[in-house]
Amino acid sequence: MCALRIEPTVSGHAAAEHARIPEPCVLVIFGASGDLTHRKLLPALFQVFRDGLLPECFRVIGFARSDLSREAFVDSLREGVERFGGFGVDDAGANEDTSSAQMWRAFSEHIDYHQGEYEDADSYRRLRERLVQMNAACKTGSSDKHTDNRMFYLATPPSLYMTILSNLKLSGLVRPVDDPGWSRVVVEKPFGRNLASAQALNDAVRSALDESQIYRIDHYLGKETVQNILVLRFANAIFEPLWNRNHIESVEITAAEELGVEKRGSFYDETGVIRDFVQNHLLEVLSLIAMEQPVAFQADAIRDEKVKVLRALRRLTGTEVDSHVICGQYEGFRQVKGVRPDSRTPTYVALRAHVDNWRWQGVPFYLRAGKAMSGRATEVSIRFRRVPFCLFGEGDVCERLSPNVLTLRIQPDEGVGLRFGCKTPGDALSVSNVLMDFGYAKAFGKKTPDAYQRLLVDVMRGDATLFSRSDAVEHAWRYITPVLERVENDPAWPVYFYEPGQDGPREANELLTRYGHHWTTLSGR
Ligand code: BG6
Repeated sequence: MCALRIEPTVSGHAAAEHARIPEPCVLVIFGASGDLTHRKLLPALFQVFRDGLLPECFRVIGFARSDLSREAFVDSLREGVERFGGFGVDDAGANEDTSSAQMWRAFSEHIDYHQGEYEDADSYRRLRERLVQMNAACKTGSSDKHTDNRMFYLATPPSLYMTILSNLKLSGLVRPVDDPGWSRVVVEKPFGRNLASAQALNDAVRSALDESQIYRIDHYLGKETVQNILVLRFANAIFEPLWNRNHIESVEITAAEELGVEKRGSFYDETGVIRDFVQNHLLEVLSLIAMEQPVAFQADAIRDEKVKVLRALRRLTGTEVDSHVICGQYEGFRQVKGVRPDSRTPTYVALRAHVDNWRWQGVPFYLRAGKAMSGRATEVSIRFRRVPFCLFGEGDVCERLSPNVLTLRIQPDEGVGLRFGCKTPGDALSVSNVLMDFGYAKAFGKKTPDAYQRLLVDVMRGDATLFSRSDAVEHAWRYITPVLERVENDPAWPVYFYEPGQDGPREANELLTRYGHHWTTLSGR
């Protein structure tokens, strides 16, 4: 355990930028009655409001098909904010937190509901009229010149993206990039179902918007600990010289969830873990771990380096997939509402990847993601090579020397740990493996903010650093599509069952033991 002293923060212009309140704007959420809005978006926005980071002239309009009154919509959001944001905002409730309840009342004044059909031009025309009225009301008393700023969030099933994009364009809700007020569109992952559909979607986006108006969100990039990967690598001199095939034996990226698919049975059955996690979250993390130093800490410089990693991923085609990928499904998944009774959709995947360049030649990247596992943990483990020669006498001591492991804990218990060998006190020479550990909560005395808080405000500020660029999305699909084709098109492809609460199927361990490696244990943490 290390003693940690936090020294004054070294901050560049980015810190000043972060304190900046965005310009007045309206946020329209398509799919406002859905899970994402209640679970993530509104709790995050409420926290941003509490932090005083929303402009005074700010409105959220929920767009959905359901016939709801504004009051009923606001009530449903309040439940989400309480349940998923952990705020006690109900002033009728027994555990009333007065300040949160007052804050919620003030925040809810900014919320509206718009009932509409995604295919219906008139729904968009009515929405446009509302935005015009809201802007007129906002302009009164505002010294800001550009009050007519619009942010559209596509939180619907991906099959609706094309329809919504073309209606946004046709109705004039999204305006040209050189108009005085800005228009920005946020699209949730998965961006497409495979390479061809992602390319078609990118074409549709390009015909409706300028690239600078589109924000492809992968909320992993908004996580503090994911951003810390770049800081750890490039703000410290000690890691970078070791960050290559000469010193690193293997890299493991794990995203394990304890929960199953909950109420998202039909979405998940269609999507599966490879589209839900690997194509986006895990490949984003992998690119940050493997990329070269960018020429500047700027959106495109960072994205350029990440794209190079995705391009260097060794393609797995046809039967090559068989020796690199293991799929699993937890028992009970087929009984979830909305899942086909004979579904072969994987809820677990383990994959052995390689980045073909000088830095990483010969270093395996082991990726794994799964639902209903024994614990919740998202982390990267960098395993260093063993010492070339053991100085400490006979077999027993040397065998117990474990290689050094640097663990970047993305969640929960965010932090960084380094395992190293240490002399056990006493006359005899004995070596113990010890852990030097840094935890965010303990070191900084506060919880790290939710990724959506950061990302929503970034869109309002026009900062695309933490969003995916079209070429990166397509390269990730280019890598993963042949894997999906093998898994989904071959009826004999094995999908191994595992019990909920296990760390995936046994066959996934064999994928690594073949090469003398093993997964980090998740249970019993
Ligand atoms: C989403 C996936 O992108 O990320 C979900 O669709 C998953 O299946 C979620 O549960 C995990 O997010 P987090 O931030 O809780 O790790």
